[in-house]
Amino acid sequence: MSRQIINLTVNGDRHEIAVAPNQTLLEVLRDELGLSGTKRGCTSGACGVCTVQQEDGRAVLSCLALAVEWDGRAVTTIEGIAEPGQLHPVQAAFLEYGAVQCGFCTPGLIMTAKALLDTDPTPDEAAINEAMAGAICRCTGHIKVKIAIREAVQQALREREPDAAPT
Ligand code: FES
Ligand code: FES
Repeated sequence: MSRQIINLTVNGDRHEIAVAPNQTLLEVLRDELGLSGTKRGCTSGACGVCTVQQEDGRAVLSCLALAVEWDGRAVTTIEGIAEPGQLHPVQAAFLEYGAVQCGFCTPGLIMTAKALLDTDPTPDEAAINEAMAGAICRCTGHIKVKIAIREAVQQALREREPDAAPT
C-alpha cells in the first residue's frame, strides 16, 4: 500500500511521517512515534482510552481519526500536557483522590477531562457527566474520577480568584 508523507505536530514537535492510507492517528502516535501513553482499546470509538486533543482543545478519539487527514495539523497527547517532572492539575487531582487503579484508562480519562476544562473551565455536573460519558474505566469506577475533576475545577478557580472560590 503506497504511503503518503504527512507533517504532524505532536506536543509541539513537528514530524514528517510516511503513513498508509488506512493508518489511524492512534497507530501513528503509538507505532511510529513510540508515544504509548495513548492507549489502544476497542479501536471502534466506544471506550475513550485513545483520547487526544486537537488544536482548539477539543477531545478527539485517535482510533477513529485517519492519519492522512491530520497532515499539517497538531495534536496533544498525555505525554505533552505537563513539563517533565511536573503534573498537570487534572493529573494531580486524579492522584490525590485515588482515581486510578490499573491505570489503563487513565490517560484517556485525563485527556477527556482536560479537554473539557480547556473548553469550559467551570463545567457543571451535567457538563462533566456528558463530557466523560464516553470515557470508560473498568476497575476504579467513575465516582473518584468525578470527584477528581470537580477538585481540579475548584483548584483552577482558587488559583484564578483566590477570594472567590469555595473551599
Ligand atoms: S480505542 Fe478509541 S475509543 Fe476505544
Ligand atoms: S483504572 Fe483500570 S480501567 Fe480504569
